[in-house]
Amino acid sequence: MSPTWQRAIVVGASSGIGEAIARRLAALGTRVALVARREAELSRVAGEIAKAGGKAEVFVHDVADFDATSALFDRIVATLGGLDLLVYAAGVMPAVEESEWAFTKDRQMIEVNLLGAMAWCNPAGARFEAARGGTIVGISSIAGERGRRGAPAYGASKAGLTSYLESLRNRLGRYGVSVTTVKPGFVDTAMTKGKPGLFWLVSPDRVAARALGWAGRGCTGGFVPARWGLVAFILKLIPSFVFRRLNF
Ligand SMILES: NC(=O)c1ccc[n+]([C@@H]2O[C@H](COP(=O)([O-])OP(=O)(O)OC[C@H]3O[C@@H](n4cnc5c(N)ncnc54)[C@H](OP(=O)(O)O)[C@@H]3O)[C@@H](O)[C@H]2O)c1
Repeated sequence: MSPTWQRAIVVGASSGIGEAIARRLAALGTRVALVARREAELSRVAGEIAKAGGKAEVFVHDVADFDATSALFDRIVATLGGLDLLVYAAGVMPAVEESEWAFTKDRQMIEVNLLGAMAWCNPAGARFEAARGGTIVGISSIAGERGRRGAPAYGASKAGLTSYLESLRNRLGRYGVSVTTVKPGFVDTAMTKGKPGLFWLVSPDRVAARALGWAGRGCTGGFVPARWGLVAFILKLIPSFVFRRLNF
């Protein structure tokens, strides 16, 4: 049986959710291009995939190097012999104190979490539109649902990503292209390591399984675990004058 996707790019595949998605894809028989900055981690993932009988290639890239994206995208597509799926899982969430006003961190979050997604989804969207088919998966977050005082730029980057992916879905749906938005709560990865107050923590593999399950069925996506959907619904009902008093 042939896999749902023959060829895939996973941006942010060197750890966490992206790594788990790449591993699952390779186990399904998909040939995977692994993209991120840390070459040693990418090689580790590629080596483990190869050992398990899968196919993965390493492409070292900083998603904030926007001028390099288009040429790298073309090189990867040529190497894979086409493209069926783009997964954008790259993201950063540096610690930001409530009394901190650090533009450098804000900029990094917008560049990596949002602009990088646009830089990769543009060539993929154009290719899939012309091909009349393809799948895009973006890893957004529950953090994009309301503007919490604890995470202004991270929340804005994820709200922007969620909105951007919805627009892509509406733009590309009529060409047979599906766009899936995955909104996890807390996931047990390097990003949350040592952070206080975590609850409903799920494994990156659980997020990967949900993401690929939804994408395989051409679904819009959703929250992981699903109960975050109820939280998001309630959060959106809270008026601003009450929400600003909440301590998170
Ligand atoms: N962990 C959570 O609780 C949680 C919850 C909701 C949403 N998310 C989202 O899930 C996604 C994956 O995060 P994770 O939890 O799996 O954390 P992670 O293990 O830290 O993975 C982040 C990935 O992004 C890549 N990345 C970061 N900056 C990059 C850059 N400049 N260029 C290229 N790649 C870059 C990293 O690779 P390199 O460092 O090798 O470049 C790594 O592969 C993120 O978008 C995050 O916002 C996470």
